[in-house]
Amino acid sequence: MPCSQVMENIYKLLIRGGEAFIVMIIYTAVDSLYLALSRADYWTMYVQDYRHFVTPYQLLDDPADVLRGFLEEAGLQIINVECREVNFTSQNISVIRGNEMEDAELYATSSSLQQEFVSQALDELWPSLSWLSEEGTVLDVGCGPGDVTFHELLSRLPPDFTVVAADISANMLAKASSRFSGLRVRFCQLDIGTANIEDTCVWQQGPFSKVFSFFCLNWVQDQRQAIRNIRKLLSPGGETVLVIVSYSLIFAVFEALGKTSRWSAYMVDYRQFVTPYQFIEDPERKMRNYLQEIGFTVKTCRDVRDVTYTSKDERNVINTVTAINPFVRRIPKELREPFLQDYVREAYRLGALARHSLPDDGGCCYTFHYGALVVHAVRA
Ligand SMILES: C[S@@+](CC[C@H](N)C(=O)[O-])C[C@H]1O[C@@H](n2cnc3c(N)ncnc32)[C@H](O)[C@@H]1O
Repeated sequence: MPCSQVMENIYKLLIRGGEAFIVMIIYTAVDSLYLALSRADYWTMYVQDYRHFVTPYQLLDDPADVLRGFLEEAGLQIINVECREVNFTSQNISVIRGNEMEDAELYATSSSLQQEFVSQALDELWPSLSWLSEEGTVLDVGCGPGDVTFHELLSRLPPDFTVVAADISANMLAKASSRFSGLRVRFCQLDIGTANIEDTCVWQQGPFSKVFSFFCLNWVQDQRQAIRNIRKLLSPGGETVLVIVSYSLIFAVFEALGKTSRWSAYMVDYRQFVTPYQFIEDPERKMRNYLQEIGFTVKTCRDVRDVTYTSKDERNVINTVTAINPFVRRIPKELREPFLQDYVREAYRLGALARHSLPDDGGCCYTFHYGALVVHAVRA
């Protein structure tokens, strides 16, 4: 409705001497998003009238002056008209981008790739860990639905040790605690990238003699902050064991879909989900530098390239890469199937997934490749 008409109506609704107090948006960058969507083939028909939803003050040089004009024309006496810049900021990731990076249900049934790799890494590193006391608590950061915490960690710990299993996602914690609650495990919500680690419930439970984290830190862009937090959570001489994805073509798939007109609106922040080591020439050296600079003595730091997950069942491999797709939950339910079809098609096209024929007509197998940093470091 034209603004002059609105002011006239307000004037009519007031009793003599009555007062109007009006707050309205005069500018927001969201309007440019509507414009972008209106130009994307897939959404044009739903947002073609987007201009009706853009504030009429959006393109004005002096909105306050124009508003004053409307108010006076309507017969209102002006006490004050002012424009203020308002910023909405939040430290709560869930408000900005949703903290459910993976689907707890699907991940719980499709994480044998992660479990196998962690099992091998722990078999190799376990003999070099030192257990100075007979009891204590260790921390597992990014426990997910709990399989690795329970089957790979708890099963190896000395009998009087307990685990605090932490994750940023409430869904993952609910799934993990419904499956693996017991006397030796406690669950806590934690963002390991937080700038205020001392305010978290995990901090209250520490310090820990060991901090483990498997396939989690690759979701945290600020590696220094995460590693600093891990150091703070350790007791003096405490040790950390980390497995972090250093490279995968699946991130090229995120980028490819994030640039399509059909899916870009759900993936504007796709870069946030690419491992911070993806474009680094020597991830091993980078990680060593972080650890030394933050105050760790490095015992092991290896970038294991070309880890391959193979299955004769294509569904297994597809579920594995679907379970680590952080965008699925943002897509409206009715569009999830076409989104996943595009995801799998792009994954094959870009080589993140591959199909191989087996000799002697043994059918075929399906593979997914990635690289991972394996770290063991001691708090100096
Ligand atoms: C791929 S899953 C790994 C689960 C389990 N550690 C495993 O190896 O199977 C990654 C988990 O890290 C969690 N996560 C992601 N970012 C996190 C953060 N900043 N702080 C704590 N957990 C985080 C996710 O919610 C998810 O449950």
